[in-house]
Amino acid sequence: MTVTTCDIAIAGAGAAGLTAAIFARAVAPEARIVALDGAPKIGAKILISGGGRCNVTHDVVTSVDFNGNPNAIAKVLRTFTVEETVAWFASMGVTLKREETGKLFPTTDRARTVLDALLRACEGVEVRTNARVSSCHPERESRDPGAWVAQGTCIEPPIPPGPSLTLGMTDGSRITASRVILATGGRSVPKTGSDGHGYAIARSLGHSTTEVFPALVPLIVEDRHWLTTLSGTSAYVELSVVAGKVLARQRGSMLLTHFGISGPAALDISRHWIAAPGARLVCNFLPGETFESLERAILEERNPRATIGSFLRGRLPERLIAALLEGGRLVRPLPGADGTSALHKLTKDERRRIIRSLVELPIPVVRDRGFDYAEVTAGGVPLSEIDLATMASRRCEGLFLCGEILDVDGRIGGYNFQWAWAGGRLAGIHAARSLHRLGV
Ligand code: FDA
Repeated sequence: MTVTTCDIAIAGAGAAGLTAAIFARAVAPEARIVALDGAPKIGAKILISGGGRCNVTHDVVTSVDFNGNPNAIAKVLRTFTVEETVAWFASMGVTLKREETGKLFPTTDRARTVLDALLRACEGVEVRTNARVSSCHPERESRDPGAWVAQGTCIEPPIPPGPSLTLGMTDGSRITASRVILATGGRSVPKTGSDGHGYAIARSLGHSTTEVFPALVPLIVEDRHWLTTLSGTSAYVELSVVAGKVLARQRGSMLLTHFGISGPAALDISRHWIAAPGARLVCNFLPGETFESLERAILEERNPRATIGSFLRGRLPERLIAALLEGGRLVRPLPGADGTSALHKLTKDERRRIIRSLVELPIPVVRDRGFDYAEVTAGGVPLSEIDLATMASRRCEGLFLCGEILDVDGRIGGYNFQWAWAGGRLAGIHAARSLHRLGV
């Protein structure tokens, strides 16, 4: 059996793992750093991110943009501000541009620019593909150099004294490292290599994991619901998760699709709907309007020929207006509410039903599209089990964790990458600094 030794082994070479590698190398250029990734090619998720453009970060990132413990998240984010991130990317030759939404993308509009720069900056780090870690355990024998020869083929000199961990690889080989950085991501889009096995590794090392579920995921509505006939239509809406009271609210663009809803507002609200079984999803197609304000506006309409259709024109896409009226009629008969009847001729009941379908339309979501379509994973290793000043594990000496494996998920807009860059940087720096303390 082949046993390799190194100073720092990084399990998972995605956004967080590559960042950790780059900063570890900068702190300890003499250290042997190996970044292991189970996928055949590095960076599949970076390449598909942001529609192939990679939304690297957002111009304002605060802990409220994330789900998880805000104080704990802020502690990590503070160590690597957006300005510092932009400067870091510039130092690697990647200039970023800000779009109207506040999202930052590479000026080339190509995710490949980001990945190539990260890989260039990894010079000196051994980056291995098709290197899937199956297990990790503390190596108590490591202080005795003789133990290596006894275990198998010793192809490297024994590592310096200190805590060490041995990674079992799926090809049967082993890698022993003074420090291990676990950056295996979550479970979203498993074909990119992030299949959630990292959670089992973390648990085997004494960590717990909270329940994990898809986040930033499209939602599927009841079969043949009228919304699905509007595939391709977008509207600026407010979505609320309601269970007695409003549990979460999100404004933004919603994209209607052949299966249900997607687009920023739907993706952002999805994890809140999933986390509250039995809760309803309600859509306000006129954000800012309430039932009362809309009723007042309709009653105060001065044009005697105004119809609900003309009243909504310009405020909603035409296809949506037609379908809302049609849809309302299909769900519950709305005589006279076909969009052509004069507003003032509507009965009170008709008017109120129309208003409800505009500002309180229940969207009958049946399920989410699952991890194959989720941009990120909610849940993971609790931050309380991590020393957030260093990203060191509080459960296992020599172990560091960063990125999506942790119990943090951000909104859409570059926040999740910012979490990966910030945590990866901390883990890399401190894993390397702790080697210095060993005299490497
Ligand atoms: P990530 O999943 O990136 O990397 C983990 C790596 O570990 C993978 O390369 C995997 O192969 C490897 N691995 C897993 N298990 C292993 C094992 N046992 N052994 C060895 N290697 C293993 N965010 C954002 O901010 N802006 C955006 O534009 C987008 N866009 C976007 C689009 C799509 C389609 C998706 C799916 C996701 C996004 N995201 C995003 C989210 C963002 O991509 C995500 O949060 C980060 O990539 C997380 O970085 P990590 O390094 O933690 O995990």
